[in-house]
Amino acid sequence: ATIADLKIQRGEGGETHQIAEGDTPVLTTAQGTPVADDQNSLKAGLRGPTLIEDSHFREKIFHFDHERIPERVVHARGYGAHGFFEPYESLSDITAADLFQRAGEKTEVFVRFSTVAGNKGSADLARDVRGFAVKFYTKEGNWDLVGNNIPVFFIQDAIKFPDLIHAAKQEPDRGFPQAQTAHDNFWDFISLSPESINMALWIMSDRTIPRSFRFMEGFGVHTFRFVNAEGKATFVKFHWKPKLGLQSVVWNEAVKTNGADPDFHRRDLWDAIGSGDFPEWELGLQLFDEDFADQFPFDVLDATKIIPEEMVPVRKVGRLVLDRVVDNFFAETEQVAFMTQNVVPGIDFTNDPLLQGRNFSYLDTQLKRLGGPNFTHIPVNAPRCPFAHFQQDGHMAMHNPKGRVNYEPNSFGLGPREDPKRGFKTYPEEVSGTKRRARAELFADHYSQARQFYLSQTEPEQTHIKDAFVFELSKVETPEIRARMVAHLLTVDQALGEKVADGLGLPSVPKPATPARPIIADLPP
Ligand code: HEM
Repeated sequence: ATIADLKIQRGEGGETHQIAEGDTPVLTTAQGTPVADDQNSLKAGLRGPTLIEDSHFREKIFHFDHERIPERVVHARGYGAHGFFEPYESLSDITAADLFQRAGEKTEVFVRFSTVAGNKGSADLARDVRGFAVKFYTKEGNWDLVGNNIPVFFIQDAIKFPDLIHAAKQEPDRGFPQAQTAHDNFWDFISLSPESINMALWIMSDRTIPRSFRFMEGFGVHTFRFVNAEGKATFVKFHWKPKLGLQSVVWNEAVKTNGADPDFHRRDLWDAIGSGDFPEWELGLQLFDEDFADQFPFDVLDATKIIPEEMVPVRKVGRLVLDRVVDNFFAETEQVAFMTQNVVPGIDFTNDPLLQGRNFSYLDTQLKRLGGPNFTHIPVNAPRCPFAHFQQDGHMAMHNPKGRVNYEPNSFGLGPREDPKRGFKTYPEEVSGTKRRARAELFADHYSQARQFYLSQTEPEQTHIKDAFVFELSKVETPEIRARMVAHLLTVDQALGEKVADGLGLPSVPKPATPARPIIADLPP
């Protein structure tokens, strides 16, 4: 394209305008009518009022007025890119999922990275968990692996999610802070929810200030199920390992970078892909069976726990490459609708109560955010395999059933029918029990893995964790909340608790928190 210059043009009344010159396609209204003048609204006389008859002006302003949709209630700030996944080997012995059947066969993906707590316009290098959401457009439907860059989570049961997020986001009276963990409400909630302590250690580590998306790990977090063609199930935990390795910045760099360039992470991804330096991750699997789950000292349905890689090694089974930026941020990154309940034949859920709750939440939130039931018609959300169903109508319907028939079974042999051989079958897990609001007893140990994580860190990493606690808790104004957090840290590791108490200048070191279950002393660091 040539760079346009300015030229003088005469208006309808002979008056002069300066307009951009150039040989471009004709501008039209949304109805397709060519536009003669896009610089001046229709007026009664040269200096008169604007006329409501000006339908081009009204259409243009009306559309502008409706440009914003609700931002995501969490993970509002994100950045996406297209790419592909390719398995190194066939996994047909453990899963019937089509994308894992043939070595080297590519499946298209869309990935969105995000921060959790910050609003859409917040800064990239806030200390926060990062979302790592992958939509696989497989030949048997879309599979969404909606993960984070930390392998554990704050809470064990989805019923606590609204409280966690209310406490983490800006306080309702003052409307700040917009994107950081350093405030009373957040630490109040954490200190009163011992199940969050393991995650609290992880978020005070360098993982929550990643150098860029390209240097982050990703995790499916929950235990999922693979099911093979014979119906045999294997438990699976999903990992993404960055080819560039895991790297973070230090807090000082994060603060300066946020000030100098709040778009640092999205710019990094855009520039890397644009210059052909395609970021890459390997998909790793931890695979185990019921026997392992039964002898593991924690419940594999508890999302606040990891399965140490020393116990179940991570098997690398394929690679993810991001090689194409979006054409339009809103159309793709903003409108992409991830949903944990999007699984395909060969992949199934477990009874993890956080996952079960998520499976309800994501459909509900997309309906609200994208304005109705037809968000799967948006190209970034539509399957790229053939699909056929009798869902119809609703706001913005783009592809209704064609012809006479919109139901099944029908006598006319028209339209799609179910197929017991090919269709998705839920794993026939036996379920029994008394209805009750409860958690299994193994969910009650909140400190053993927090200690294991802290002790597994190198000395500089431990110092960063300590410094982060001192910095974040020093912003907390309520002395009781600071003391309660230090009490938890003393139980995790006495030296850590004492150092944080000292850094905060607490008048005395509080009593350590009492664990609900004895801490397992001999977990390998
Ligand atoms: C959005 C991950 C727990 C509700 C997201 C996104 C990610 C994510 C990555 C952003 C998706 C995107 O980029 O568009 C996780 C992980 C969780 C977790 C790893 C725990 C292991 C929960 C729970 C709930 C929940 C327990 C609710 C019960 C939501 C909602 C959104 C969201 C409402 C916004 C979705 C949208 O409007 O597009 N989550 N989440 N999440 N998550 Fe979660």
